[in-house]
Amino acid sequence: MPTTPPLRPAIYEKPSKDIAPMPRYQSFFPRTEIVFGPGLLERLHAYRGQKVGIVTDAFMARSGALARVKSYLTECEVLVFDEAIPEPPVDTVAKGARLLTDFCPDVVIALGGGSPIDAGKAILAIVRETVHGRKVPFVAIPTTSGTGSEVTSFAVISDPANGRKFPLISDELVPDVALLDPEFVRTAPASVTADTGMDVITHAIEAVVSTGASHFSDAFAEKSLELAFANLPKVFEDGDDLEARDAMHQSSCLAGLAFSAAGLGLNHGLAHTLGGRIHVIHGRVNAVLMPLVIAFNAENPEAAARYARIARRIGLDTPSTRAGVRALIRVIENLNIRFGIPSTLRGLGVDMDEFGRIRSEIAAAALVEPCTASNPRQPSLTELDELLARAGG
Ligand SMILES: NC(=O)c1ccc[n+]([C@@H]2O[C@H](COP(=O)([O-])OP(=O)(O)OC[C@H]3O[C@@H](n4cnc5c(N)ncnc54)[C@H](O)[C@@H]3O)[C@@H](O)[C@H]2O)c1
Ligand SMILES: [Fe+2]
Repeated sequence: MPTTPPLRPAIYEKPSKDIAPMPRYQSFFPRTEIVFGPGLLERLHAYRGQKVGIVTDAFMARSGALARVKSYLTECEVLVFDEAIPEPPVDTVAKGARLLTDFCPDVVIALGGGSPIDAGKAILAIVRETVHGRKVPFVAIPTTSGTGSEVTSFAVISDPANGRKFPLISDELVPDVALLDPEFVRTAPASVTADTGMDVITHAIEAVVSTGASHFSDAFAEKSLELAFANLPKVFEDGDDLEARDAMHQSSCLAGLAFSAAGLGLNHGLAHTLGGRIHVIHGRVNAVLMPLVIAFNAENPEAAARYARIARRIGLDTPSTRAGVRALIRVIENLNIRFGIPSTLRGLGVDMDEFGRIRSEIAAAALVEPCTASNPRQPSLTELDELLARAGG
């Protein structure tokens, strides 16, 4: 494995008002072996006879997915921790880490949506601290087409007792192997499919307009969008359409690779801030915000040109840049309508009195949220407050 200087993704580069931006080099270094196509679970035969720790959630453990994975772990001693929940709390991570440290695994597998994969990342980070002199590989098997966590260096852990979230960011968290088997996503209900799919679209669009975008990240993001716009409506209508499920699974992974390199933007800055204060589903709130954020960013001519390029790439009519931006916004609004996703936070069921009370606090926090730093148009506090007021409805 070549050694490289540690990377700080553009997403975490907070522009300073005092120092003129210096040109700096970029690096595109996907670290994950991505496995796809027929018979891909046979890749697990590489761990024959080894001690395998599995991190998953209760649904996956009883759904048959876990049994399917285990059937490929020939002659393995297997320990299962199935208590992962969304935004895994530190207590859950500590419990899983204790179990797996005692077990001393040769390899750790995370099976599930972003939550079990994030829990697996945090648990393995602790286990690796106690295992000296040997590498414990990490295999991610995503069961949603959404977060792209199977290829990213991020994990979101929470401390519910103190109402805090900790984004962990390290190249050490990037899974070594991602197994993209669409069969696992088949059981995802239409609402989970739609919410996570809109998250994919947000990841890829934000990667394209991010200040950290490059030809390399664009290649992944634009292909991701082409697949997502063509296939998300299909998997929403028919969850058993395996060809479309496969395309969405790859789209999600491509978007993960793109935003890992390029960073995200204001959409995620706002969604993360809202998610920390109000109970909202991540992908769904991204979908509500997307038309507003695109309209806001499109005041920047370079961002507008990139949105129009996306519109062209997904086959929309784009006689001019403005028409391209409008067409992209319209196609997202139409997807939201089709998926039953409302156009406002009020429609999501957010308590408007509570929202009114904390709106300015959310705006202030979103302004300094790390994702906002790579947004193509830096908002003022007043602009963010106005945008949130419109999103509220
Ligand atoms: N690491 C990253 O890069 C990153 C990025 C964004 C979000 N996240 C985190 O990911 C989590 C959200 O992940 P998610 O949206 O994939 O959902 P999730 O893992 O939280 O799962 C949501 C629900 O769907 C169920 N589910 C998952 N797969 C299913 C399937 N195939 N069939 C039926 N039900 C299924 C789960 O059991 C759960 O009840 C959050 O904790 C969020 O903070 C991580
Ligand atoms: Fe996201």
